[in-house]
This record gives sequence, C-alpha cells and structure tokens, in this order.
Amino acid sequence: MTATDTSPRSGRKRLLSGMRPTGSSHLGHLVGAYRNWVAMQDEFDAFYCIVDWHALTTDYKDTSDLRASTLEIATDWLAVGLDPKRCTLFVQSQVPEHAELHLLLSMVVPLGWLERVPTYKELIKELKEKDLHTYGFLGYPVLQAADILMYDAAVVPVGEDQKPHVELTREIARRFNQFYGDVVTEPAVRLTPSPRLPGTDGRKMSKSYGNVIGVAEDEGSVRGKLRTMMTDPARKRLRDPGDPAKCPVFDLHRIFSDDETRNWAAEGCRTAGIGCIQCKNALADHLVAEIAPIGERRREYEKRPDDVRDVLAAGRREASEAARATMERVRAAVRLPIASSGSP
Ligand code: TRP
Ligand code: SF4
Repeated sequence: MTATDTSPRSGRKRLLSGMRPTGSSHLGHLVGAYRNWVAMQDEFDAFYCIVDWHALTTDYKDTSDLRASTLEIATDWLAVGLDPKRCTLFVQSQVPEHAELHLLLSMVVPLGWLERVPTYKELIKELKEKDLHTYGFLGYPVLQAADILMYDAAVVPVGEDQKPHVELTREIARRFNQFYGDVVTEPAVRLTPSPRLPGTDGRKMSKSYGNVIGVAEDEGSVRGKLRTMMTDPARKRLRDPGDPAKCPVFDLHRIFSDDETRNWAAEGCRTAGIGCIQCKNALADHLVAEIAPIGERRREYEKRPDDVRDVLAAGRREASEAARATMERVRAAVRLPIASSGSP
C-alpha cells in the first residue's frame, strides 16, 4: 500500500468468488449468491470472476454461446447491483496467469484428492450426455484453487455444494507451501445461506428443468408464472385447508415476503381463509418489488453492451496487476525464471 492509496478497499480483507457463465441468471443465483455478493462488496476488497474456463470443463464440445453468455452474466452482475467502483468484476480467461498457477499447483496435487471430490464421480454419471472422462474435468478443483490462491483471498463465499472445493483449495495451499515455503494464502470458506428455492414446478429451480424465474424478468411474466406455479396439491378447492410446509409458493414467501405477509399466508392457507390466487398475488408484490429495479437496470445496460465490456476491461487490468505480483512470487519460490531478472 502506498501513501497515495486512500481507496477504502485497500485496508480490507481480500474476497474472491466465481460463477460459470451459464446464460441468464435466475432467482437461485440471486438468493444463493448475488444478495450476499452485493452486501459484501463494501465489507471486503472483493473480486468476482466469470469462470469461462470452468464452463469449458463440461461444455467443451460446443462453445458457440460462450462469449454471449459471458457478456450476459456480466450484464446481470451489474443489474443486480455489483458496482465496478466498489469491487472488481473480471473474466478468468482474460487473466492467463490462472492457467500458469493451475499448472504449477497440478504438480503437487495427488490424483486421489481429485477422484475423492464428491461431485466428481456424481457429475460424470449425472451428465451422461457429456463425456467428462477428461483431464480438464478432473482438474476442475485445481483450477478453482488457482482462482482463489491467485488473489490471496482470505474469504471465499460459496454455497454448501462448493464447500468441498474450497476445503480442497486449503489442502492444496498447505501442500504447495510445504514444498516451496510460505508462498500462498490459505483461504477460509464463508458459507452463504442457501435456502430451498423451488422453481415453478416445485423442483429445485434450474435452467435444465425449465422452471426458472429470471432476475430481470418483467412483472407481467413473473405474475403469469406464479399464477400457474405448483401449490400444495391438497388444496383442490378454496374450502380445502392446505399446509404451507408442502407448498413451494410458501418457500418463496419465506425468501421474498415480510413476516406479516408470511404469517398471513400461512394462517390463511391452514384455515382456508384465503385462496391460492390471493396468496400468490401477495408474494408477487414482494418479489416484483425486489426484482423490478434489477430489470430496469438490466434493460439500460443491454442498450450499452460496450459499457459492460469496458467494465470487464477495467476489471481485467485490476485483476492482472494482482495476478502478476502473485506469479512473480510463485515463480521465485519454485525457482523458475522471474520476469525482473530476464533469464534463468
Ligand atoms: N466452481 C464454482 C461453481 O461451480 C465456480 C468457481 C470457480 C468458484 N472458481 C471459483 C467459486 C473460485 C468460488 C471461488 O459454482
Ligand atoms: Fe400454497 Fe398459499 Fe395456496 Fe397455501 S394458500 S397452498 S401457501 S399458494
């Protein structure tokens, strides 16, 4: 830190998180990541990375949508309120040092550690249509470790499903340091709350199920989807009482409505005092209040894709500066040639 560095970010703990560019974001992303990311951008020196190389580990066959998806998710990030003045938004492949660190880490990572990652064998089975018996897919967590260790991240906010990857990053960091001295920083996991977020058919909200509500969806479309959303099947008629615990609409009340509305809905459901349409309308009011401003901002950014590209270009410069410094340190520790000496 120099005397002229008065940025409020300079004294804060470093934070890094990442997301694959999978197309437009839905409420699952909002609740599982963005709400927390936006809140944390003022508490930490936050770096948020669009991990396009990670997308390639499973979708290497057809990459035709990759660039569009990257721009799309960047637009979503700005729309939900990530502010490039307060945090760094960048694309993984634009900082090629990630590949170099991935390579060096890969030298010390025992195969067994990677084969034991819970999602590894599961995903190979689950995504049968994709051939994931590749070197790149096995190395997925090593690439993630490189993302994290590159920025000396103290804190990595992720959902429960990603916890094993961050734990593995900690083990990789320890092992790397055993060989080469104290050169990388062991990060801490920060679990982001992951409440159950059902889609319109009651299953987990997921693009592959076609049951999503988008973060920037317009009001008419949101209300339309809620109107046909699945409810407690016991409530066939208005006079049939229901059980909120069995209703996916109520799960959304838990996340988007205030206490008063939620209690009113629960009570009205159990006593058949309200109808499902009424219940859904009240939910829609709260949900729309949260996402309408996101939609408005998104439509503004959509008109100016070059502004979004500029944000990523600035993020690339900020990330590259940090990455270059880390790699000089790492190369020196591994006894590889370093840039400042020009030759081995
Ligand atoms: N593996 C993460 C996911 O699928 C994405 C990711 C890549 C990530 N690199 C990261 C998350 C670094 C946190 C930190 O969601
Ligand atoms: Fe679900 Fe509300 Fe209908 Fe009860 S009243 S079944 S909580 S939609």
